[in-house]
Amino acid sequence: MCGIIGVVGSDDTLATLLEGLTRLEYRGYDSAGIALVRAGETWRARTASGTESVAALKEECLRAPKGFTSGIGHTRWATHGAPEAINAHPHLDCSGNIAIIHNGIIENHTEIKEDLESRGHIFTSVTDSEVLAHLIEEFRAQGLELMEAVRQGLLVVRGAFALAAMDATEPNVIVAARRISPLVVGTAPGATYLASDVPAILDRASAFYAVNDDEIVRLGPEGFRAIDLEGAPVRLHQLSIEWDLETAEKGGHDDFMSKEINEQPNAIRSTLLDRRRKDGTITFDEMRISDDELRDVKRVCLVAAGTSYHSALIAKYAIEKWARLGVDVDISSEYRYRDPIVEVGTLVIGVSQSGETIDTIQATREAQRRGAHVVAISNIVDSSMAREADAVIYTRAGLEVSVASTKAFVAQVAALELLALRLAQLRGTLPESEIDGLFQGLNAVSAQVQAVLDRRENIELVAKELMGAHDFFFIGRHVGFPTALEGALKLKELTYLHAEGYPGGELKHGPLALIEPGVVVIAIATDPAMHEKMLSNLSEVKARGASVVAVATDDDEMIESVADFVLRVPATEPMFTPMVDVVSLQMFAYAVARGLGRNVDRPRNLAKTVTVE
Ligand code: F6R
Repeated sequence: MCGIIGVVGSDDTLATLLEGLTRLEYRGYDSAGIALVRAGETWRARTASGTESVAALKEECLRAPKGFTSGIGHTRWATHGAPEAINAHPHLDCSGNIAIIHNGIIENHTEIKEDLESRGHIFTSVTDSEVLAHLIEEFRAQGLELMEAVRQGLLVVRGAFALAAMDATEPNVIVAARRISPLVVGTAPGATYLASDVPAILDRASAFYAVNDDEIVRLGPEGFRAIDLEGAPVRLHQLSIEWDLETAEKGGHDDFMSKEINEQPNAIRSTLLDRRRKDGTITFDEMRISDDELRDVKRVCLVAAGTSYHSALIAKYAIEKWARLGVDVDISSEYRYRDPIVEVGTLVIGVSQSGETIDTIQATREAQRRGAHVVAISNIVDSSMAREADAVIYTRAGLEVSVASTKAFVAQVAALELLALRLAQLRGTLPESEIDGLFQGLNAVSAQVQAVLDRRENIELVAKELMGAHDFFFIGRHVGFPTALEGALKLKELTYLHAEGYPGGELKHGPLALIEPGVVVIAIATDPAMHEKMLSNLSEVKARGASVVAVATDDDEMIESVADFVLRVPATEPMFTPMVDVVSLQMFAYAVARGLGRNVDRPRNLAKTVTVE
């Protein structure tokens, strides 16, 4: 996701910004830019050279005028608008005096832009962010100070943001604000800093303060002051930071995997932002496929590998149930070699975190060759798959560094279930009131995921108890089955222990022969409709000596009669349970792996992106 840095009052402004941006590179980005601002002058440079953008920006900045003491910088991870220099931040208002940088998504940017354009504002990018520069310009024109102009602007926008604004007509001031996207302020004698992440300013500032949601901060060389959205003064909480740079990049976590597991509420929230218009229409801005084409779909086929294959399996349940369309799911390496039937009206959805997995790219190419419409679900903007596909939906999980996928999985499930709702809406297979309820339910999932994250201690205790086991069977029914597959995959990848996922109903068809004392059976038991059947599965394995772990809802009073250990999760709509349940399985796998001394970020023999067959 985007990175933000700002400084006021420094005699080393350019170096501070460029070094800060270099330190933010680990977040992933596709373009970069800075603005230096002083009385009557704003100097801006922007580059879009993929992961070379900061290097290219440094070259550009060799021609920057000297003597600026304040500025802002940004690394962009595209969401609205292609990763091109015109879409890179900072964005300027019409006068060129106001410069803004933004991380997040402005949900109502289309209506704001239309309104501003009707009043003569000229936009130069296709980003949602640019509306902020013009909105602030409007309020400045009414004579408001920059801080008040930003506050007024924020009363108009919906969505998520960490933003910083400067104005050459009010120099030596940065006004910053936050909702959802993180922001920290740093202080040092004579200079004040701002960043999306501590690493960017770790060696410049000596004290750090967290900006909370809906707080606005005014930074000057002498320090800062903060207000809330109503304009009332607030105190920022001082952070005690004793991290080195490496720990700081991991957000204070021991490894990227733990950081990414903990980022899942945000990954879901970001993926869902800006996806529903006021009239209730579910919308994907980046989708290059018309409603008529989607309405004409007769059959869906999903292709994917690994963890992405598991999210594709979950999508099958959602699309079939809600949109009443037949769905096939293929492992991408199998699809292209089985002479697939692609009839008129077949929609093929390629699901890939990286958008670069060779088998999935080849599968979607094969589908296109046979005449299918192809939609890519990709976490990387402008990945090969996203570029080649007829349409794309981006998951907005942010850069995933750890080899084993976590936050990309929950974001994929959220995006695919949203697409299932859109198909249902177009086909008229669900009443609007039900779509509305499901959309609300989907939006509640990130809080439910957070509730699971908050139960880490119990999960660690269970992991400790089972540390010596060598064989694990994960079972589930309905969407609990792909969740079981994903739980097993996480455990085997991270721990190198034997783990298999099975549909609960398949136990009697073979695996039961392997159940004996010492074997662990982990059951996904959160779906009320499947609960009785799951209890009887668990009785069968318990009777044969297995240790039983159940992922069960908070209100489940029956489960303890068959389970030795229970991982409690909040109840949610059955179709959404994979996003909640998988989190406890990820944390379980992580805890066992740490206990066994494994390298959780880089499991042996595995690569993050498989680009060879
Ligand atoms: C598992 C994992 C892999 C990937 C698979 C597909 O934790 O990370 O199984 O899911 O290699 O990768 P993408 O989604 O990039 O196509």
